[in-house]
Amino acid sequence: MTCQTIAALLATGRPDTPATIQGWVRTRRELKEFTFVEVNDGTCLANLQVVINPSLANYRQLVDGLGTGTAVEIQGQLVASPAKGQRVELQATQVTLYGTADPETYPLQKKRHSFEFLRTLGHLRPRTNSFGAMFRVRNACAAAVHRFFQERGFLWVHTPILTASDCEGAGEMFTVTSLDLDHLPYTPAGRVDYQQDFFGRPAYLTVSGQLEAEIMALALSRVYTFGPTFRAEKSNTSRHLAEFWMIEPEMAFCDLHGDMDLAEAFLKFVFQAVLDHCPEDMAFFNQRIDPTVLATAEQIIQTPFERITYTDAIRHLQNANHPFEYPVEWGLDLQSEHERYLAEVLFQRPVIVTDYPVGIKAFYMRLNDDEQTVAAMDVLVPRVGEIIGGSQREERLNVLERRIQGQGLALDNYWWYLDLRRYGSVPHAGFGLGFERLVQFLTGMGNIRDVIPFPRTPDSIDF
Ligand code: 4AD
Ligand code: MG
Repeated sequence: MTCQTIAALLATGRPDTPATIQGWVRTRRELKEFTFVEVNDGTCLANLQVVINPSLANYRQLVDGLGTGTAVEIQGQLVASPAKGQRVELQATQVTLYGTADPETYPLQKKRHSFEFLRTLGHLRPRTNSFGAMFRVRNACAAAVHRFFQERGFLWVHTPILTASDCEGAGEMFTVTSLDLDHLPYTPAGRVDYQQDFFGRPAYLTVSGQLEAEIMALALSRVYTFGPTFRAEKSNTSRHLAEFWMIEPEMAFCDLHGDMDLAEAFLKFVFQAVLDHCPEDMAFFNQRIDPTVLATAEQIIQTPFERITYTDAIRHLQNANHPFEYPVEWGLDLQSEHERYLAEVLFQRPVIVTDYPVGIKAFYMRLNDDEQTVAAMDVLVPRVGEIIGGSQREERLNVLERRIQGQGLALDNYWWYLDLRRYGSVPHAGFGLGFERLVQFLTGMGNIRDVIPFPRTPDSIDF
């Protein structure tokens, strides 16, 4: 007899049929006549209730071994459950104990633990209700991302993780080296001699696959990346990770409007897909984490996003009469308090802000005719702030060269990127969505460290 998932049994298991489950004990309740054990296998939020009768061999020993955290396989007969809220339960006929868990030391006891505490238990927290729900939603979200693009003819392209170029020009890259840091080779001028390093020059972990995605889009028309990216920014906030996953579509023959339309359709699609695939987990987040989760999801799906220019956004913020911590002034970047004010208070829905000042955005964004702004767009959402950053790309060779030099970057490092403007250049656009910010927004989770299995942040790289 093959083993069935608890999700399948609870959904469609027929009473009076045999079943076998494998999972971990959540709770044990010993009554006079028999013992109830709740077993969870991570396939769904709900546990399966198992009834252990004293007629089973070694009953006493068995029940003693069935403490919270114990791994078990249980064979038995499904029966209609007299208990509320579950169709079936399992009458055990045979119980196999795998690893037991000492109740004196097993850290996940029945009571509710704080997310801070659970972060110190990265190896066990997937066994809790919250993190089980989280990782099922995260999976549904990732599957929806691929479905959205695949259904629209985008190719998933694999851009490198090791790179020699700084896509964002922000200098927030982790260096990758095979040099012995205790015995570094130096040039006569006293600088580290990277010629002796693995690649013969400095190398880094990528902050974005965009530049390579552009190469692919200018041959394959519509592509997307979905992979890990790395930022060595010392931002110890609830929205920053040093390692996060990014989704970056890139489209040839596309302008900023096409880019915004794609971003909006994409978010609506993913929200709908997650509601369809994980209704119980989403209801759990709504009940336990943030009571606005389901209402927000419905609103994302149904309401058109607001679209305003940066210049208008600044005007709105200046007229807001709100005590912001950071100054609001044309030419300064929007801080997360400003982003959240726009999305949460002023428009109460996602806002796409476009046409930012040239001075605060990356070199590759297309210069507008006013020469003061670039064809950039950020999608801002309640609670999280910036969830997507994108732009139309500068496709004119001479303008791009000026922009690269203007930012103090070396043209030589971008020779191949410039070649794309030399040969068969075309207007094109794309964006980057931070996958964890999306999951955070979807689930209402307060801290981004709790939406990725193994968060990497300043001074923290356990597990
Ligand atoms: O705005 P960013 O820096 O844009 C880019 O990297 C472009 N190359 C994307 C593109 O046009 N192809 O980052 C894009 C998104 C942000 O909007 C945010 O959601 C997320 O990536 N992000 C982070 N998420 C978690 N932790 C961090 N440290 C993040 N930095 C950016
Ligand atoms: Mg950005």
